[in-house]
Amino acid sequence: MEEARAVRPEELGQALTLVNKVFRTGVDQDMSTDYPLVFAPGNLENLRVVSEEGRIFSHAAMARRELREHGCALPVSMICAVATDPEQRRRGAASRIMEDAVEAMAARGDAFGLLWTGPARDFYRRLGWEVVGSNGWAYQVEPRLAGRFEQPLPVRPVQVETDLERIIAIHEAQPRRLTRSPAEYRTLLGLPKSEVWVAEEKGRVEGYLVVARAYNKSGVTEWGGTSPALSSLLARVLPEPAGERMQVFVPLPDNPMTELLTGRGCRTRIPMEIADGCGLKMVRILSLGNLLRQLTPCLRSRLAGCSGRMTLSVQETGERVDLRWDGTDLEIGEGRGSGAQELPLRQAARLVFGPDKPSQLLDLPPEAAQGLDRAFPFGFHIWMLDYV
Ligand SMILES: CC(C)(COP(=O)(O)OP(=O)(O)OC[C@H]1O[C@@H](n2cnc3c(N)ncnc32)[C@H](O)[C@@H]1OP(=O)(O)O)[C@@H](O)C(=O)NCCC(=O)NCCS
Repeated sequence: MEEARAVRPEELGQALTLVNKVFRTGVDQDMSTDYPLVFAPGNLENLRVVSEEGRIFSHAAMARRELREHGCALPVSMICAVATDPEQRRRGAASRIMEDAVEAMAARGDAFGLLWTGPARDFYRRLGWEVVGSNGWAYQVEPRLAGRFEQPLPVRPVQVETDLERIIAIHEAQPRRLTRSPAEYRTLLGLPKSEVWVAEEKGRVEGYLVVARAYNKSGVTEWGGTSPALSSLLARVLPEPAGERMQVFVPLPDNPMTELLTGRGCRTRIPMEIADGCGLKMVRILSLGNLLRQLTPCLRSRLAGCSGRMTLSVQETGERVDLRWDGTDLEIGEGRGSGAQELPLRQAARLVFGPDKPSQLLDLPPEAAQGLDRAFPFGFHIWMLDYV
């Protein structure tokens, strides 16, 4: 078995055959069109494979993005399409690729690695990945509720050429999102088995909504705009009374869609992790010190007005990080402080990303507990449209 490496352009077809065999057998969809930004010609360096005598039998992809949340800009890589040919499993190939991916992510300064999984949770946990706080809710909208959404604004199918600029402006006004280039917006709005609708007021797009009916994405995968626009859009896309319920994905914190849905009596919701097409949200910290430095704008505002210090030491890597906060001052140092609190990598992921409060995870002195419980967890939301 060779070392993990980037796929070569002439091998892309072979890698796609493998991931389609593992993830799309019996499904009329294709991984290359389901995840066009991952399998794009410009992303080949991030498609990692293991081969033997010219035959690729294990694969994992990275998709690098920038996460904007709580005033922070974090480079993050999402991992997807991790697959080993069924006849070649348990030889260590996928582990080798995942270790290679972690090295690559750390070397380029990513804040953390992110993935979604159902069946392979324990495979990833062995490699330092951990399930963290929820990504959001999936409201289950019953068809009988459709009539409750007023339609004050006209709704029509998107015309990307003329509507793209307004859709970008609406999405970029969201407090939490991944950054996208205009070309990436265009690609994501054109995913297979999905429709994009817009609501207008006096000829100006005031809201948009993406509905997918695909194997990997099902329901309202993205939305944005004013409340009257969202109501009009839902009235248009919700199923006829005889239809099936529809999932509408929303971030955890307050947002106009949640307000609209609950205001119209839709109260059935489940964590995104157990909704169709989602999976558990897992994170791999690459360097705790780097991550905390990248989170500084958020931590500084959450810790304003209190003071304390803490040294954390990551068991597996020996990395030590000093945190000192005082008033509006926050210092993140190299970990020279004494009396470090030791924690395994997976616990560090839960410390930062939840769902628990730090004082529920670690036995902390009162002053440190008070500060860390204010600072964490750092929740973040990935829109379903960006899922890989
Ligand atoms: C998950 C998968 C990629 C692992 O590939 P692999 O090359 O067999 O992995 P490795 O040989 O490196 O496995 C390392 C260890 O993880 C264990 N492992 C593998 N898959 C596992 C799973 N789904 N759950 C728990 N442990 C698992 C193996 O048993 C092995 O342990 P062992 O050495 O004690 O036997 C492969 O089983 C696969 O393609 N599964 C279907 C697709 C999938 O679920 N991908 C992940 C989607 S996010």
